Amino acid sequence: MASYEEDYQRSLDDPEGFWGEAAAAISWYKPWDTVLNADNPPFYRWFEGAELNTCYNCLDRHIEDGRGDQVALIYDSPMTGQVKKFTYSELTDLVAVFAGGLADIGVKKGDRVLIYMPMVPEAAVAMLACARLGAIHSVVFGGFAPKELATRIDDAKPVCILAASCGLEPGRTIAYKPLLDEAIEISSHKPASCVILQRPECVADMTAGRDHDWQELVAKATPVDCVPVLATDPLYVLYTSGTTGVPKGVVRDNGGHAVALRWSMKHVYGINPGEVFWAASDVGWVVGHSYIVYAPLLHGCTTILFEGKPVGTPNAGTFWRVIQDHKVKALFTAPTAFRAIKQQDPEGKLISDYDFSNFDTLFLAGERADPDTIIWAQDKLKVPVLDHWWQTESGWPMGANCVGYGMKPVKLGSPTLPVAGYDIRIINEEDGKTEMKTGEIGAIAVKMPLPPGALPTLWNNDEGYVKSYLADIPGYYKTGDAGFIDEDGYLFIMARTDDIINVAGHRLSTGGMEEVLAGHRDVAECAVIGVQDDLKGQVPMGFAVLNAGVNRPQSDVAKELVALVREKIGPVAAFKIALVVQRLPKTRSGKILRGVMRKIADGEPYNAPATIDDPAILTEITDILKQAGFPAHD
Ligand code: COA
Ligand code: AMP
Repeated sequence: MASYEEDYQRSLDDPEGFWGEAAAAISWYKPWDTVLNADNPPFYRWFEGAELNTCYNCLDRHIEDGRGDQVALIYDSPMTGQVKKFTYSELTDLVAVFAGGLADIGVKKGDRVLIYMPMVPEAAVAMLACARLGAIHSVVFGGFAPKELATRIDDAKPVCILAASCGLEPGRTIAYKPLLDEAIEISSHKPASCVILQRPECVADMTAGRDHDWQELVAKATPVDCVPVLATDPLYVLYTSGTTGVPKGVVRDNGGHAVALRWSMKHVYGINPGEVFWAASDVGWVVGHSYIVYAPLLHGCTTILFEGKPVGTPNAGTFWRVIQDHKVKALFTAPTAFRAIKQQDPEGKLISDYDFSNFDTLFLAGERADPDTIIWAQDKLKVPVLDHWWQTESGWPMGANCVGYGMKPVKLGSPTLPVAGYDIRIINEEDGKTEMKTGEIGAIAVKMPLPPGALPTLWNNDEGYVKSYLADIPGYYKTGDAGFIDEDGYLFIMARTDDIINVAGHRLSTGGMEEVLAGHRDVAECAVIGVQDDLKGQVPMGFAVLNAGVNRPQSDVAKELVALVREKIGPVAAFKIALVVQRLPKTRSGKILRGVMRKIADGEPYNAPATIDDPAILTEITDILKQAGFPAHD
């Protein structure tokens, strides 16, 4: 096997040769005309002309290869006390029949199907059934409110929505059906049908003429075969936060995605077919799409679908139990999960109760991995703890310690080196073109073309794709992250260059929250910033200036603002701090000094810009923050 250095260089010098070889691990109905069509930049197409089916590659082909009796998926749910195992043969049967049911209600190749489901095996069945039919799924995370769901319905225009009657959070059952009904009520586009999985914890009322019961649909259905699609046809659309309240529909194609994900299992994660891989995330996020469902199944592994939390279900030893019981080789989660465990079991006492003999590596991503968390995990678990960096748009890691080639030395605070296919450069943010020197911070950009698997465009929005990612640094994809590369070529990801914050590994737009606050009748202007949080990394904090003449208690308005964000965006926003202020600090040209406010709230030193309109406002803000208990650490 080539070394990391050889493969990385080859992936940049000869991308067609490199990815053409990697594509041999995928089963194609028809080969490609070109590995990479670069005739129409910035729109690049991988494996143009080829035909495949992603579901076939995830399921049927493994049965043909003799893996039919191997467990494909383990559903482990401390929320319901269930553990269920599905072999490749069983999962294929379930998916083929459910796809038949979807076909019976008119779902066909190219149609969009929205999935709003908790972490139950049927969520994975739903995704794979869409892939089987060539329908394009769009999964919406359960923690989003009806309005967010409606925005996605209007953009994706699904013919059908698949949902469960409820999701389970510790201590409460969340009825999904009323949220779904409300979303359909407020959206302009109406799906022709919904399929509802009734869970025993909460039975949903059905809407006559539109809703189908999942089990009844399946009982009447017959299995269907995989429908060949073009490599360049979309497999899914996944909405992610942009700089405004309007989410961006990241498109994933079928061919490049299958090639890149399968390649990543061996090279990035060092996993072989037949081994057990666990991504403790949710199918509503890109981590769940790529590393709960598609990549482990493409690679013939056993994947774990976990319905629970790292703590409280029932305790901070849950993760260790799952690792032991299912012989997990690698766990992938967000650092916030480990901070939660560390808070509850700082000595890691629960770890000694479990057998870790199969456990090799812990991978962390989704937010900056703070050195304290990495060191704690290394000490307690006694396995390598590897940070890696990627985003919804890339779909798979851009920066990692690719263990498949042999591990590189770990540098705390760094996800290590660029992954094959990603030509990562640090660009001067001021001029948008000069490369920064070693060790200097700048905008992190990837020289085009992006490798297979990364987004080819935004859903029905080529213009938005160019504007959001490609216009600022011509010839490069702008990641939205800032950072530097050190003398050994290691990447360091320091911050976002936009208004996106990262709350418990969830990516959220403060601009979107500001839009919600601005919609309150008493608010004249507002700002939302992300402040440091010991558990979630960051949490949002809102500042609101009220309209003249509002003489209700400020605390009432603050409570309403908190409730409004929960209602409009959802509980996942974790928006719990709203402060009423007299004025916001601004430059003379009217730009709100959010960065300075964040530094005051976090207790960091700051320089007020020379262009500040009235420096006295910073003292007012400092006092209000002090009264509210910020900075939390002096
Ligand atoms: N449906 C409905 N509500 C949901 C939900 C879902 N699928 N997922 C979360 N929520 C709610 C939670 O109940 C919580 O509500 P609350 O304000 O009433 O407490 C809120 O959304 C925030 O949820 P969460 O971010 O999960 O915070 P938490 O305090 O419940 O748990 C952690 C904190 C760290 C334990 C949790 O974030 C976690 O397990 N993170 C793991 C990492 C992860 O999954 N990252 C994703 C990308 S890899
Ligand atoms: P998402 O699209 O939700 O996966 O969020 C992607 C963003 O999370 C990235 O652009 C980064 O800002 C942040 N992120 C993800 N992984 C890391 C990491 N390992 N280190 C630092 N930031 C990260």
